[in-house]
Amino acid sequence: MTRNQSPSGPDASARVGFGMARPTTGSGGGAGMGTPNPPDEVPEAELLAPDARVDLAKERAATGIDEVFTSLDADLVGLSPVKTRIREIAALLLVDRARSRFGLSTSRPNLHMCFTGSPGTGKTTVALRMADLLHRLNYLRRGHLVSVTRDDLVGQYVGHTAPKTKEVLKRAMGGVLFIDEAYYLYRAENERDYGQESIEILLQTMENHREDLVVILAGYKDRMDSFFQSNPGMGSRIAHHVDFPDYTQEELEAIGDLMVGHEGYEFTPEARDTFKSYLERRRTQPRFANARSVRNAIERARLRHASRLMETTDAVSKDELITLTPEDFSTSRVFTEDANSKTAEPAFD
Ligand SMILES: Nc1ncnc2c1ncn2[C@@H]1O[C@H](COP(=O)(O)OP(=O)(O)O)[C@@H](O)[C@H]1O
Ligand SMILES: [Mg+2]
Repeated sequence: MTRNQSPSGPDASARVGFGMARPTTGSGGGAGMGTPNPPDEVPEAELLAPDARVDLAKERAATGIDEVFTSLDADLVGLSPVKTRIREIAALLLVDRARSRFGLSTSRPNLHMCFTGSPGTGKTTVALRMADLLHRLNYLRRGHLVSVTRDDLVGQYVGHTAPKTKEVLKRAMGGVLFIDEAYYLYRAENERDYGQESIEILLQTMENHREDLVVILAGYKDRMDSFFQSNPGMGSRIAHHVDFPDYTQEELEAIGDLMVGHEGYEFTPEARDTFKSYLERRRTQPRFANARSVRNAIERARLRHASRLMETTDAVSKDELITLTPEDFSTSRVFTEDANSKTAEPAFD
C-alpha cells in the first residue's frame, strides 16, 4: 500500500523564510520556479559580516515551527523522548542555518532518519509531523510523505525492481520517503533477492539527492539493528535514530480519552473503568499494537454503541448519541479470550 500524505498547515508560499536571500543558481532543484531552494549555500556576497548577530528567536518564530511543536504536544500523549529529539533536530537545523549565513556550514546536513519501535507507537504520525517541520525550516521543498513497504519498491521479476523503486523515489522527491519495515528489503538467505537492487538505488539517491529527499526507515529496533549490520552503507547514511517506546497503561488510557474526545463521544465513569480493564487485558494478548489497538477498540465500541441505539424503539437524545457505556466494551472478545491463546485473529479488538 502506498499513500501520499500532506501535512496540514499554512501554505508554503505564505511562510516567511529566514530573511536570507536565496540563491537562484544553486545546485538544488526548482531554482527560479517559485519553489524555495534548499538552504545549503549562501552566495559569498550575501554572507554576514563576522561581527554581525543573528536573532535566533526571531528566525525561529518566522519559520512557524512552534505550531508543529504545539500540535505535537496537544495531539500526542507521552512520547517525551521523541518530542525532545525532534526539538533537538530543529535546533540543530536552525543553528546550521545561522552558521551558513556566516559561511560556516558549507554542505547541507544529512537528515535521513530511522524510527524504531513496536507497531502503533506513533512512528508514521511523527514522520508526517517531521515532514511538515522540515518543510517549514525550508529543508524540504514540498513536505509531503510517501509511505511504502517492500512490495512498493521491489518487483517480482528481473528488470521490474529498478523502475519500481525509481518511480517511488520520483514521487517522494521534495518530501519524506517513509519505508515501513525497511529490513524486509534485505533477505540474508537469498543473495539474488531483488531487494538488494532496490537498496543500491536507495543508497545512491540518499547520497546524491540529499537536498531534495529525506528517507525515514521504520520498524522494530532489533530487526533494524541487524539490517544495518548486514547493510553498513545504509546504517552510515542515517543521521538520526529515534526510538519510540511502548506506551504505559496510563498513556494508553490517556490516548483513549483523547480519541474519544476527538470523535465527539464521552465515557460514563463505569465505561471508563471497563475501558481501563479492557486495555489491561488487551496489552497482554497477541497482536497488541499500542495506540492502534486503542483506536480499534474505540471504533468497535462506536459500532456497538450504534447497534445498541438502533435497537431501541424510543427516540434518542443528544446525550445518548454521545455516551459510551460499559457494555460497549465489555462484550468484546478481549474479555473472553484466553490471554495465552495463540489462535487470536487479527480483528481481535
Ligand atoms: N502518542 C499518541 N497519542 C495519541 N494518538 C497516538 C499516539 N501514538 C499513536 N497514535 C495514534 O495511533 C495510531 C497508530 O499510530 P501510527 O503512527 O500509525 O503508529 P506506527 O507507525 O508506529 O505503527 C494512529 O491513529 C495515531 O494517530
Ligand atoms: Mg506505521
